[in-house]
Amino acid sequence: MSQPILTIENLTKRFGGNTAVNGIDLSVQPRETIAIIGPNGAGKTTFYNMVSGRMKPSDGRITLDGRDITGLPPHKISRLGVSRSFQINNIFPEMTVQENVEVVRSAFLGHSRRLFNLASRNRPVQEQAEALLERLGIDSLKHHRAEVISYGDKRLLEIAMVLATEPKLVLLDEPTAGMTPEETRRTTALIRKLADSGDYTFLITEHDMDVVFNLADRILVMHRGERLFAGTPEEVKQDPDVRRAYLGEDDDEQDQDQDKHQEAGA
Ligand SMILES: Nc1ncnc2c1ncn2[C@@H]1O[C@H](COP(=O)(O)OP(=O)(O)OP(=O)(O)O)[C@@H](O)[C@H]1O
Ligand SMILES: [Mg+2]
Repeated sequence: MSQPILTIENLTKRFGGNTAVNGIDLSVQPRETIAIIGPNGAGKTTFYNMVSGRMKPSDGRITLDGRDITGLPPHKISRLGVSRSFQINNIFPEMTVQENVEVVRSAFLGHSRRLFNLASRNRPVQEQAEALLERLGIDSLKHHRAEVISYGDKRLLEIAMVLATEPKLVLLDEPTAGMTPEETRRTTALIRKLADSGDYTFLITEHDMDVVFNLADRILVMHRGERLFAGTPEEVKQDPDVRRAYLGEDDDEQDQDQDKHQEAGA
């Protein structure tokens, strides 16, 4: 194994008497896709907020590519290569889809975002933006104003904007939330393709278990701030604690299931 891109040790966040994240350890290899799952209030967003710098941990350490980033402010962590999906309201509605990616790309390359205008568009930036839109499957929309495209396409544009900063680590918080089943399928397949390309390392939180099982190399299951289980999708599916706490099964149901199987087999 190579050096982990991200190492989390004993990560803890307390809000008064409530411990939202409690002693989490996690090591992420380059090019891995890790899903963080757990019921509402499990601590997933708080975990993300600490990795991206929006919240300072109460305890523990976060190391990115060998460098301690614990408690650094968000802009520093972002400059070191951790990119979190923008909220859709970061999209400039009156610019075209392609111009939105170009703005982020230009800013990343050190051109002034304030001075961005059509006259300053440069060819390499345009080509890089087009290539990203192609990877996200929305290049046919590149000349549309961003405000007129569908919700699902906006979320894909958001991801293209994140990738325009060449992040070492991409944090996606519920990438398919609010999407139609068809949009969810398309987005899952696209993220899968990006992950398989080996160019990216993803941390994904997601409530849709089909998406999780489809995308994750490994899954961290959180429950009330703690690590309930960590393993491959297959291991997670099999684990009785996870089934009980998260997939909504209790022992009685499992017993009933077994009874049913026995009856069916009898
Ligand atoms: N800023 C805050 N101040 C106080 N308590 C907070 C704050 N943010 C989160 N919490 C508490 O921390 C716990 C974990 O919340 P968090 O939002 O991280 O859960 P989550 O796993 O993201 O849930 P969901 O699936 O609903 O998004 C909850 O008990 C929540 O009330
Ligand atoms: Mg959350």
